Amino acid sequence: MPNKNIENRFHELIDGLAQSGQLKPFYELNSPMRPVVQIAGHGEVLVLCANNYLGLADHPEVIEAGHQGLRDYGAGTASVRFICGTLVCHRELEQTIARFVGAEAALSYVSCWNANEALFPTLVGPDDAVLSDALNHASIIDGMRLMHRSVSKSVYTHGDLNQLEEQLQATQSHPARWVVTDGVFSMEGDVCDLPELVRLCDRYQAMLVVDDSHGIGVLGESGRGTPEHFGVLGQIDVLTGTLGKALGGAAGGYIAASQRAIEVLEQRARPSLFSNALPATVAYSARKAIEIVERDSKLVQKLRRNIAAFRTGLTRLGFECAESPTAIIPIMIGDEAEAIRQSKRLFELGVMIIGFGFPVVPKGAARLRLQVSAAFSDEHVQRALDAFAKL
Ligand SMILES: Cc1ncc(COP(=O)(O)O)c(C=O)c1O
Repeated sequence: MPNKNIENRFHELIDGLAQSGQLKPFYELNSPMRPVVQIAGHGEVLVLCANNYLGLADHPEVIEAGHQGLRDYGAGTASVRFICGTLVCHRELEQTIARFVGAEAALSYVSCWNANEALFPTLVGPDDAVLSDALNHASIIDGMRLMHRSVSKSVYTHGDLNQLEEQLQATQSHPARWVVTDGVFSMEGDVCDLPELVRLCDRYQAMLVVDDSHGIGVLGESGRGTPEHFGVLGQIDVLTGTLGKALGGAAGGYIAASQRAIEVLEQRARPSLFSNALPATVAYSARKAIEIVERDSKLVQKLRRNIAAFRTGLTRLGFECAESPTAIIPIMIGDEAEAIRQSKRLFELGVMIIGFGFPVVPKGAARLRLQVSAAFSDEHVQRALDAFAKL
């Protein structure tokens, strides 16, 4: 029998969200992720809110690779990796990731969320200090919550590297300092000042951790992410990222670091020891996605042209678009109910773009988040801009 008081509490929360116009709608897709999808009970819409930056989520080679993984290895290993769950295709994927991001070694996880939960409690020692950008992704924040209680934690104002330097000076007595940042900030669409972060970490002998989930496949001439964009490929101590956005869009995440750090994670990280590995289907499809990007940078270049077309078009229409090389364009609204209302209006106009409010962004900072894909044709871009003009 459900506890009545608790059920009432749930009702109150959901009713309250519905009354204030903050209830998130969940649209059900009847087709693969691609620029134009079928929404159950609605019809076709143009998707402007997927992380399908390179359009690889339904690329024929990526789909075929997933099928091949299923044929070669079946549904999964029914085991965690150190027992009998490590497949040859996991190692092949990890070598491919390490090569692509310029690291010595890599380890895959079922998500980047999981990778971040593995990283912090395992690599950070109990007397170390962690210095984290205020706008880091929720998975970094939650991963840090799993660290030993005695770790010293400081948060620096978003992008304020003077403040970070003060924190580095104040924590010199700790055996190790870890500076943690998103490469591309998922809600702002801005990019961290990676060359300066590398310089500061060198100067203060701190470890630099970069979550490049929104940079990988997007930034840099050949899509190797934020480090390539800034010419510091191979200079980041620990990189994390997702395979669920530009690199195939299914699921999965990784940590790329020194061989020794990866061995420590394999031996000690709780998600590595107590949770199953990526299914072979995803290991195959993600590896194929990376190979497609490595083979030819034309998707990355196409994405770049589409980003420029959107930023120019939206600016012409009077929307404020901050200067940024990323594929994320936030359109600030402020009030959450208004952001949801505008996203519903755009949906009626055949364009899917989600209004983000609390707790994903701070209260009063609700926004529409537009995300660009290499798969958009000129006609898609124009259709989207026409809808924004009507808004
Ligand atoms: C910066 C960042 N890190 C981690 C994640 C989580 O990725 P995954 O979906 O692979 O768990 C996201 C996803 O939104 C993200 O934006």
